[in-house]
Amino acid sequence: MDKRVYLCLAHMSGKEMGFIQEAFDTNWVVPLGPNVNAFEQDLERFIGQDKKVVALSAGTAAVHLALLACGVGQGDEVIVQSFTFCASSHPVTYLGATPVFVDSEADTWNMDPILLEKAIEDRILKTGRKPKAIVPVYLYGMPAKISEIMAIATKYDIPVIEDAAEGFGSKYNGRMCGTFGKYGVLSFNGNKMITTSGGGALICADEEAKREIMFYATQARESYPYYQHEQIGYNYRMSNICAGIGRGQMTVANEHIEHHKYVCGLYRDLLADVEGVTLHENPSTLYNSNYWLNTVLLDENLHVKGEEDAYGETVKGAVGGAAGVTHEAKSVHTACEPNCNVEAMRVCLDKAGIESRPLWKPMHLQPVYAANPAYVNGVSEGLFRRGLCLPSGPYVTEQDVRYIVEQIKVCCKN
Ligand SMILES: Cc1ncc(COP(=O)(O)O)c(C=O)c1O
Repeated sequence: MDKRVYLCLAHMSGKEMGFIQEAFDTNWVVPLGPNVNAFEQDLERFIGQDKKVVALSAGTAAVHLALLACGVGQGDEVIVQSFTFCASSHPVTYLGATPVFVDSEADTWNMDPILLEKAIEDRILKTGRKPKAIVPVYLYGMPAKISEIMAIATKYDIPVIEDAAEGFGSKYNGRMCGTFGKYGVLSFNGNKMITTSGGGALICADEEAKREIMFYATQARESYPYYQHEQIGYNYRMSNICAGIGRGQMTVANEHIEHHKYVCGLYRDLLADVEGVTLHENPSTLYNSNYWLNTVLLDENLHVKGEEDAYGETVKGAVGGAAGVTHEAKSVHTACEPNCNVEAMRVCLDKAGIESRPLWKPMHLQPVYAANPAYVNGVSEGLFRRGLCLPSGPYVTEQDVRYIVEQIKVCCKN
């Protein structure tokens, strides 16, 4: 193979430059304008359910503002799915509140509704107060057991913020993920289903909720002829240039989603006879994942070439690039890491020009959250130890998937 195969690269429709040019021609080079409005309308049409959408500078900003709008503040607790990227939980701490982590169930890998209820009951018992919000996640695009989660949230009257950053276009029971809770978070980072280079959006219930989010996203400016501030706001609105990219991307959003599903089908067929490697798929017809990233679990007994030497040296550079910023690792091991066969597979595929990546390390196992309350059942830790993300984006061809599966076989010891 003469090219490298990546997990999920941004893929342009060819329409983006037209919208960007228009922004330059009309001098709308600011964090508001016609592209922002039109992108929001495109998203509202796509998502349906009469929801309103606010375009923001990042998905992380969307999480932050949703928490703020749910009244989360100093000393509060928020229940967050532990198996996720840090952007689901870090904004809780920006507000002086505490993330309380809840583990996953094995079907969808997302928030376990049974543990969620246990956690709510226990927090009420221990603190005398209800958690202020619940943040389930659609990991790798897979819908969560959202109807069960919503039923529990309704029982205890706690707002739900769905983190659908990875679940753009995924559906549960025919309905778009991100439209069930009080708010839904989307991300348009460079590696997501559609991109605005960097960006995000918050799905809101109605026009009033949208206006409140826009108020906090634009420095909380009161209506005076001068700058009057009665509350703390943020500079989180999407740029009109980025929104131009978003408008172009919306013309290929469905194509991208179909392609990710097509790649899943190829992995399904080609991995069927590979013992010890299991593809993660929709658990039933209720679930309709966008398969943003296709993921596999490696059986603990699967032997992979080079596993004896796994973790032999520290990795140079942060996973995902992190804009070139590197914090040198203190040691080659941490208290919880993927199994040696998983790390050996990652290295072996890398040598064959294939990017793969371990699953998200659960937040309750992150040193930064060592003191946080966590309600766990071992599911996310087990998945983290055994799982790997495989190339899935719009540039991944049938030939690539054949090559990837061939190389997975080559990497396995006979
Ligand atoms: C689960 C999850 N939540 C939130 C985010 C945050 O999105 P952004 O990178 O746009 O800030 C991401 C992605 O990066 C994510 O994967």
